[in-house]
Amino acid sequence: MSDVRRFYDKHPINLAQIQRDMRETLGGDEDWTPDQLCRFDNDHYGGVHAVDALIEAAGLGPQDRVLDIGCGVGGPLRRVAHRTGCRGVGLDLTPSRIDAARRLTAAVGLQDRLTFVEGDAVDSPLPDAQFTAVIGQEAWCHIPDKAALLREAHRMLEPDGRIAFTDIVTRDDLRENVRARLREEMCLNALASRADYERYLAEAGFEPILVEDLSAAWTELLRVRLKMYEGLAERDDGGVADHGRYLPAYRFFVGLFVDGALGGVRIAATRRP
Ligand SMILES: C[S@@+](CC[C@H](N)C(=O)[O-])C[C@H]1O[C@@H](n2cnc3c(N)ncnc32)[C@H](O)[C@@H]1O
Repeated sequence: MSDVRRFYDKHPINLAQIQRDMRETLGGDEDWTPDQLCRFDNDHYGGVHAVDALIEAAGLGPQDRVLDIGCGVGGPLRRVAHRTGCRGVGLDLTPSRIDAARRLTAAVGLQDRLTFVEGDAVDSPLPDAQFTAVIGQEAWCHIPDKAALLREAHRMLEPDGRIAFTDIVTRDDLRENVRARLREEMCLNALASRADYERYLAEAGFEPILVEDLSAAWTELLRVRLKMYEGLAERDDGGVADHGRYLPAYRFFVGLFVDGALGGVRIAATRRP
């Protein structure tokens, strides 16, 4: 099993945790709305507001067919579909994420417009020119070959398609021992800088329309998220998440944001025909 799959099989945001949060908040069993679920099912920084920013950046509407690369448990794609009325496909490497995405999507009645497919973003099983937009949030940081990832995104988009994503980036030359820790403990494989992304996008055939530095906002969000994980660890009941292993890695990761070595970007671009 790949390291990424193992990492996400044990992640603190998981199907059991989301279902528990939903039951504690709302009671009942899987008779929920997308607006209720979206408080718990996004695994990126900024929750639904960050998804809404991508909707604006890519100009998504009901006519779109959206591909979410590294869709996780499907939170962003459900938000996009619910807000815009579009259809979409979520692609993810981790089978347990795909299973969770399908169950949660059915629980809020969006299964007729959204499907979820297991696969690797650098060698996608999906056909050419099927989508009008590609999105991604804090997933591409796991993928070492970003040139191949963006070539695949280009291949799966229609000629005038758009791409809009957020991701973790380096802001400094990280020492090899720091990179090794990020790889080994967080599966952050070969992080790119903002300039790297701009170069890969141009080489793959995209024209940037928006590049935003999110580093300051994310540093604050990450401090809060670290507290949330510390709280989850306190009520750990021996469930899916391995908090003992996760927390020290997460503290190290958040420290790199505080020190200015890591940051975040939001980028949108159009596909050159
Ligand atoms: C931090 S989660 C983000 C999930 C989702 N984008 C969200 O915001 O809720 C990263 C996801 O990327 C997926 N992933 C990592 N490498 C991948 C690859 N090569 N191809 C497809 N998905 C991948 C992981 O399985 C994981 O579900």
